[in-house]
Amino acid sequence: MKHHSWRHLFVTSTLALSIVVPQISSEVKANEKVMVNESFDGIQNGALPNGWKVVEGQGKVQDGKLVLSSASSSKPARIVAALPDDNNGNYVFEADMTFISAVEDTRWASIIYRAQNENYPYYQFAVRRGTSALNGLEFAERTEKNAWNVTETNFYKENFEYNKSYRLKVIASKNRVQQYVNGELVVDTAGASKWLNGDIGFQANGSTVQYDNVKLTSFSGELPPVPSSGVLLPEEAPTKMINAPTLIEGPAVTNYNVKTGSALLKVENRDGKMYANGKLLNDQLNLLKAKKIPVLHIEQAGIEEAVVAALNETSTSDVQVVSSNKEIITSIKKLNPRIRGGLFYDNSALNKHDLQQIVEDVHESGSKMVMLPLKQLTADNVYYLHNRMVSVWGIGGDTMADTHELIHLGVDGIVTNQPANAVKAFSQYPEKTIIQRPIVAAHRGVPSQTPENTIISYKMAFDLGADQIETDVQRTKDGHLVIMHDNTVDRTTNGTGAVDQLTLEEIRQLDAGIKYDEKFTGEKVPTFKEFLQEFKGKDVVLLVELKDHGIEQQVIDEIKSEGMMDQVSMQSFYLDSMQLMNEIAPELPIGYLFSASVPGTIDAKLKNAKKMVDYGTTNDVTLNASYGTVYAEFIKYMRQRGQMSMHWTFRGEEPFADKLKEGLIGPITDYTQWLTASPIQLETPIKKLNLNVGKAHEVQAKAKVSYRVDQRENVETELFTADDNGVVRVNGNTIEAVAPGTAQVFVKHTFTMLSEEWNLVSEPIEVTVK
Ligand code: G3P
Ligand code: CA
Repeated sequence: MKHHSWRHLFVTSTLALSIVVPQISSEVKANEKVMVNESFDGIQNGALPNGWKVVEGQGKVQDGKLVLSSASSSKPARIVAALPDDNNGNYVFEADMTFISAVEDTRWASIIYRAQNENYPYYQFAVRRGTSALNGLEFAERTEKNAWNVTETNFYKENFEYNKSYRLKVIASKNRVQQYVNGELVVDTAGASKWLNGDIGFQANGSTVQYDNVKLTSFSGELPPVPSSGVLLPEEAPTKMINAPTLIEGPAVTNYNVKTGSALLKVENRDGKMYANGKLLNDQLNLLKAKKIPVLHIEQAGIEEAVVAALNETSTSDVQVVSSNKEIITSIKKLNPRIRGGLFYDNSALNKHDLQQIVEDVHESGSKMVMLPLKQLTADNVYYLHNRMVSVWGIGGDTMADTHELIHLGVDGIVTNQPANAVKAFSQYPEKTIIQRPIVAAHRGVPSQTPENTIISYKMAFDLGADQIETDVQRTKDGHLVIMHDNTVDRTTNGTGAVDQLTLEEIRQLDAGIKYDEKFTGEKVPTFKEFLQEFKGKDVVLLVELKDHGIEQQVIDEIKSEGMMDQVSMQSFYLDSMQLMNEIAPELPIGYLFSASVPGTIDAKLKNAKKMVDYGTTNDVTLNASYGTVYAEFIKYMRQRGQMSMHWTFRGEEPFADKLKEGLIGPITDYTQWLTASPIQLETPIKKLNLNVGKAHEVQAKAKVSYRVDQRENVETELFTADDNGVVRVNGNTIEAVAPGTAQVFVKHTFTMLSEEWNLVSEPIEVTVK
């Protein structure tokens, strides 16, 4: 199990997940009055306190508790308690809440406040049974039109347990609302301006819930302004490159004025004091605050608690820790799971085994990134890691040539002591430059041309050059793993029935091709084993989605028995299933599939990005969100923090191109051919050229056309120079030496992908004219 190694190292600290806030005292002040104090003790079963009424569904007092019962989401149970003073909406509303049952984890219960008309509209603090979901906790409006408007969500560190009581508290003051669970602030909003007073209430939705010890106290204080999200999206060196690497300043950089995203601090303990790059760690963290993301490089074991203490003292919550010792990363994450991890790898040249080991170590330590010196990087290595959900930061960039080389390796970050080189390099690329074509996952094969989830479709995906092949796994009635997207075989085969009600034998009789087109008659529903065996040892990653709960171990057993643990990446809409996967196979890339709406304001977008990345980090999963969930700031936020991710499901050219322009990596698509027809990268035969004045040289660049095989093709190109210094003149593919000096000459290939033009640009040729 993944976390065993942590246990002997540290006694746990639980403060990690709470938001740091000024605590409001819950004692009642002299000028504040208790408006409701109800323990339901004297009330007979079946009745309600005076002035309380059931608005819909079932609610009554039972054995000294208020019990609301709702069989399904279409039949909620709701009670309103009318207050004697209608004008008061500034209050503290508290109650113990206990889930007795819920029809599923998404179902919820709430406490209602500022209810109008003794019915709706109102605000509510809702809690899902599966409180650890991204939207497990909500601040929501029930509008005048009797519809939901959910404006703030958050996740709790764990699911609410059945039969365990949690103290919910709302402090409402003017437009300000704070919502607490057991004293921990979980929602803090200024969005309660529509209704400034009103009654309180209770609601159950697809759940049976008990409430007790209800207390309502007037609140005459002021809530402080909502702290600005404090979410950092550092502005980096301007560039027209799409998806440029993030810049991380190395430890030799002493002023933080260059436009980079992060700063690397080498942290150590000397004589009992914590230092970072030779200065006190706390001072350095304070200096970086609101400017750059701190990346702490730690090699000294045993200082993990002191590091976390420094982070707490300086309220630093957005931080990455890198180490060549994965135990240090796991120890740190045990103390605070929201700290992102990264592996530092500085051994000899990388062979296939080393690469596999890096992937395992990165995922096993709950990291998502590896930091490697330039000398160990090749484009193939970066590709291998990317395809297994490892973000790559390259260390180097001391010269312009090294900087351009790093960019062309396709790294996600550049760690450099000379950030000015990167700033200059970034400025030299033209509009719509794509350095490398993004990796692509073939969704259920190539369903735009062949029947989904069949071997013929997967083979086509492979032949087209898909980097990953996506598939959906379920279990038959007699316990075999097969491939099927829907719960039933009805849509894609000539049979009917639920997969888990059919035997393997019955499913194998079905035709999975005929409905798509008669020419595919005879295609079978593949078993998971067949799918694995088809691609065993081939250069492709299988993106395996678990459509069932409870098949995790069996899926891993089959992958292991084929010896394919280095060729798979897992994902599911069920977070608990992926958490279990993290226990069973922590060395694998594991993704959480989800969808969420995009907030309207920039501040809300940043807060949402932080919430999602914190969520992925806490649960050690990549954020495989639907593409509609993804927006430019979120993509940049992830990139600046060393996160890889896959996004689904692209079926139209326009949104596909739009998201790629925003920097999206890892598309999952029904139309693999739309991407794989494009070249991958442009290569020049030379990096340096000496020419005498008056002489000319013609450059013949080639495009690499496949990630998988070493294959290059001649393509139409033209040269451009980023220097306007009169040293050279370029004409088509010819460089003419004009005057002594040096100049950078780039090759550009313009191509069409998704009905738009894009530029592939080579590394520059450094031309010296004598
Ligand atoms: O790869 C993720 C995507 O497949 C999720 O949606 O319904 O197509 O399985 P779905
Ligand atoms: Ca799927």
